[in-house]
Amino acid sequence: MKKITPETVKLMKRAGEKISSITTYDYSTAKIVDQSGMDIILVGDSAAMVMLGYTSTHGIGMEEMKIFTSAVARGAKRAMIVADMPFGSYQASIEQGVNNACALINCGANAVKIEGGSNYIVEMTERLTTQGIPVLAHLGFTPQFLNALGGYKVQAKGAEQTEFILKQALKLQAAGAFGVVLEMVSEEAAQYITERLDIPTIGIGAGKHTDGQILVIDDALGKYNDFSPKFVKKYANLSAVMGEALKAYISDVKEEKFPEEEHIFKMSDVERVKLEYASNNKS
Ligand code: KIV
Repeated sequence: MKKITPETVKLMKRAGEKISSITTYDYSTAKIVDQSGMDIILVGDSAAMVMLGYTSTHGIGMEEMKIFTSAVARGAKRAMIVADMPFGSYQASIEQGVNNACALINCGANAVKIEGGSNYIVEMTERLTTQGIPVLAHLGFTPQFLNALGGYKVQAKGAEQTEFILKQALKLQAAGAFGVVLEMVSEEAAQYITERLDIPTIGIGAGKHTDGQILVIDDALGKYNDFSPKFVKKYANLSAVMGEALKAYISDVKEEKFPEEEHIFKMSDVERVKLEYASNNKS
């Protein structure tokens, strides 16, 4: 079992091997994901929506992200664990961002992800990478900028915005980022950017030419159904599987079919006789 590192994914890009990635937020799922052979596990701030029920990624803070990151780190040994820097954890100052990134690394993350490509984020990326904290950048549709972007809109539908995102990606690459998530951009833009970067691009809603793909696990396994973006492919229907299993359990409880003999702890014959004796002598 060889641990996946930033260097591994850069080599995968050079070798033309696609990078697989998915979000995960808890210990038992992390074990399954890790054993499946996934390259990167993202402890995404999408946890705000799929784990905590908020309507955007804004609700989650460092305390929750630290808990989710530690749980995943206890379950995953091979995959590279990237923890999201949640909204409000790096906007105030570079020092705030460095402290919070260190906190996520101390919880077992191998790298952090930061949304955006402004000069501030480029500076933050440089500070983190020079301090030994690998950074995965995130461009295109950046959910933490939902209010500024004015909704869930596909980005880089034209040449000008594609060039703009490429410029940001090149700056982040120069600042030391080991990869870039490209979210909800046109396939042409994603291909153009991917071909001009040395570091890998990981696409979500960015077509098939990125160096890797990422999905939110609750979307991919059909567990979160509040809404389903066009770019999601459902590999399972866990909500149906769970619903059926729970109905079967309820009906077993109501009809006294559960527990069965194999689920029950028994006294020894001697202790049962003693209990009967005690019961008889009390009455
Ligand atoms: O938080 C998240 O799940 C993400 C992915 C959508 C890339 O940032």
